[in-house]
Amino acid sequence: MSVEKQIVFTDAGKELEILLKNEDAVVITDVNVKKLYRDKLFGNARVITLAGGERCKNLRTIDKIYSELIRFGCDRKSVIVAVGGGVVCDTAGFAAATFKRGTGLVLVPTTLLAQADAAIGGKNGVNVMRFKNLAGTFRQPDRIIIDTAFLRTLDEKNFNNGTAEIIKTAAIYDSAFFGRLENKILSEMPENKLKAVIKKTVSIKNSIVKDDFEEKGLRKILNFGHTIGHALELNLRYLRHGEAVSVGMAAACAMSQRLTGLSEKDAQRLIDLLKLNRLPVRISKLVSTQKLLGSIVQDKKKSGGSVDLILLKNIGYPAIRKTALNDIEGFINDIR
Ligand SMILES: NC(=O)c1ccc[n+]([C@@H]2O[C@H](COP(=O)([O-])OP(=O)(O)OC[C@H]3O[C@@H](n4cnc5c(N)ncnc54)[C@H](O)[C@@H]3O)[C@@H](O)[C@H]2O)c1
Repeated sequence: MSVEKQIVFTDAGKELEILLKNEDAVVITDVNVKKLYRDKLFGNARVITLAGGERCKNLRTIDKIYSELIRFGCDRKSVIVAVGGGVVCDTAGFAAATFKRGTGLVLVPTTLLAQADAAIGGKNGVNVMRFKNLAGTFRQPDRIIIDTAFLRTLDEKNFNNGTAEIIKTAAIYDSAFFGRLENKILSEMPENKLKAVIKKTVSIKNSIVKDDFEEKGLRKILNFGHTIGHALELNLRYLRHGEAVSVGMAAACAMSQRLTGLSEKDAQRLIDLLKLNRLPVRISKLVSTQKLLGSIVQDKKKSGGSVDLILLKNIGYPAIRKTALNDIEGFINDIR
């Protein structure tokens, strides 16, 4: 079945009712989502509950999941149903890909970031020591159920967090879509319009992933804003993933103006849209340039040398440039 056909925009309650009745299923969720949705959506199911948040996306949690799956008598025919944000989808996805070399997997993303990005594309990962997503697999889920009703309970910070990845996807791939987002505050959009925006973002990500599932080339453009974004996330724990990527995109704009000829006007359009959606675009003075450079090296899991930066030539047109770490130092100072 094509990847597009595995993604449905529908009422998660109805889908889960059928799924949890008929399958040898286990729900993986986090404490917050469980509190909000257990009674309504998976009251009678077997549930594994994660503490939630980036700090639980690690191998200790995977170990705990394996123990619970063994206790439930699960095997390769079992289906893991992840109900939660990007952390739950990534962690459950990794567990489903590796437990007994693979169980079934259904993702029910409940944050904007997970619906528009993290649940899409079949990549999962958990953090190891201070390395973000160091262990992971490429593995498409069997089904992704997207229900925008979940977003009604999301707080503003977590909502805007997802907006950053939507703006990123438009900026790297589709100037017309970016144009439609301009001057709009996504958190104030009516639900039907927001659903159309998520659908568009999902279809862009799918077309990028289709041609490069294992991220050997084109798929790397989805990491726009992530080089500095991940370094900030490692150093400033209060920053959400999308907020860090937002600052990273602002930094990438400054670099693009020097390295790939991005016009000042296009750079400003992107920064204006991020700011309008209450996303940060400046690097906090709380973290030194040296610390950030150290984290970039650490994040890329290699020492010294250069990194592949994802930059823009124009809105909608990305470029990948190998850049020496020494050169990145100056750019970081530009956006303080
Ligand atoms: N695999 C990928 O391709 C990919 C892509 C982008 C991001 N990610 C990963 O996604 C993670 C971030 O995901 P996230 O921002 O969704 O974080 P998250 O999963 O931590 O969710 C954010 C918070 O919202 C709560 N929450 C979830 N759904 C809710 C709802 N409907 N109502 C109220 N609260 C709700 C959660 O309990 C949590 O406290 C990062 O680890 C990042 O690396 C993965």
